[in-house]
Amino acid sequence: MSVRRTLAWAGIAAAALAAAGASSAEDLAAAKEKARACFACHGEGGISRAPETPSLAGQPDNFIQWQLVYFRSQTRKVEVMNAIASALSDADIRGLGAYLSSLPPPQPPGEPDDRPELTRAGAELARRNHCASCHTERFVGQGAIARLANQQERYLLKALRDFKSGVRRGGGVAAMPDAVYPLGDDDLRALAHYLARFR
Ligand code: HEC
Ligand code: HEC
Repeated sequence: MSVRRTLAWAGIAAAALAAAGASSAEDLAAAKEKARACFACHGEGGISRAPETPSLAGQPDNFIQWQLVYFRSQTRKVEVMNAIASALSDADIRGLGAYLSSLPPPQPPGEPDDRPELTRAGAELARRNHCASCHTERFVGQGAIARLANQQERYLLKALRDFKSGVRRGGGVAAMPDAVYPLGDDDLRALAHYLARFR
């Protein structure tokens, strides 16, 4: 199947998920049980302690559902998540989206900022590149757009590099490849540092 057709199918699948609306109480209870396996990597309560594994707690419901659909269709290629998502039904995905989005989000790191100049550079880059216009003023995300605030710094940097190199494909619209196109690697580092510490 061509990339274009794969993207089109992923879009249809995700639209069907969204159209199905809120998950039932049973879906939610089943998701809570299923999520325990996810927490082995993504951290207790969906708060990650592993630098290259993202926190899931507090991510928008739709963002989680779309990413699981992209993993399941292999539109987004990450071996471990492709294998896990291949075993999820549409009902599982709806339930996981509802449950994980309801968990309290990660907090800013407790220790003092070791590189305040990098934080300032990141804040300026985020302002000039209008990151908040999609990710919202507090970077909590909305709809299919990710929460960025207090995400693992190394994961944020990996995600930005993956968009930049074209390794990561997601939504049919090229919002993120366009956003990172003008940025250099030092810019990506500064943005990741700033967003991981956002207050
Ligand atoms: C063996 C470890 C492991 C397990 C178990 C696991 N994940 Fe993941 N997951 C990862 C890693 C690593 C990534 C980051 C992928 C990347 O580098 O782009 C990820 C990424 C994700 C993302 C994308 C998040 C984002 O911010 O882009 C979602 C959503 C997700 N996982 C959901 C789940 C769910 C739901 C489960 C349980 C059903 C689960 N994961 C189980 C390792 C795991
Ligand atoms: C036009 C809207 C838009 C703009 C502007 C935008 N983003 Fe995004 N961003 C998105 C969407 C949509 C996604 C989810 C992409 C996907 O589904 O693959 C995303 C995903 C991300 C992710 C991955 C998060 C995760 O957990 O996997 C990061 C990091 C990110 N954006 C950072 C930024 C930064 C930094 C900027 C500014 C330089 C920015 N974005 C500007 C729409 C946007």
